[in-house]
Amino acid sequence: MKILMLSGSRNPEGQTARAANGILAGVTQAGGDVESIFLPTLQIERCRQCEDNGWGLCKDKGRCVIDDDLPGLLEKVQAADVTIFATPVYFGDLSESMRAFLSRVRRTTINEKGRALIEGKSAVGVCVAGGSGNNAPECCSILDKFLAKCGLDVVNMIAVRRQNLEAKLPGMEAIGKWLMTKPSSG
Ligand SMILES: Cc1cc2nc3c(=O)[nH]c(=O)nc-3n(C[C@H](O)[C@H](O)[C@H](O)COP(=O)(O)O)c2cc1C
Repeated sequence: MKILMLSGSRNPEGQTARAANGILAGVTQAGGDVESIFLPTLQIERCRQCEDNGWGLCKDKGRCVIDDDLPGLLEKVQAADVTIFATPVYFGDLSESMRAFLSRVRRTTINEKGRALIEGKSAVGVCVAGGSGNNAPECCSILDKFLAKCGLDVVNMIAVRRQNLEAKLPGMEAIGKWLMTKPSSG
């Protein structure tokens, strides 16, 4: 089993990474392979809203006109058995890198061809409110909506706050092991 972790934080030692690494530790213990990618370190432009009607190639071709790291990331999601989407909570919302990425995936997956690339692939969301600790559930709700709209099968959505990160780590490991059983939301 291959588990991909896409982080909306750039810090490999930050709280988002700690939470996601809890899941990845469980995966590794159960014999799975893991790969972590930090979205802010990649080139992912924001959508250009190409045409006056707001659409572009995405609608008719299921791909984006921008030549950046998006297609390579989509290939990685396609190749993985499960993708973990981990974001720090910024202003009660996704981080900018996660939002830029998912906003464009949401468009390309409107098209049947684009959607077929990742439709039904398992996804887990992790939202870490590392400051006040507020708004992790609201961020989870936003992330859940994005992932579902992109056609992913959201098998778990985890809200973490600074105050309970440590306490949640054993549960995160258990989730990692559980992912190796190929769970589905249905
Ligand atoms: C622009 C910005 C907005 C933030 N908004 C929130 C917030 O709404 N709630 C919260 O608990 N923490 C908030 N934080 C704190 C981050 O969640 C915290 O720094 C978190 O640890 C970042 O994740 P990282 O450690 O993985 O980089 C914010 C931080 C930044 C930089």
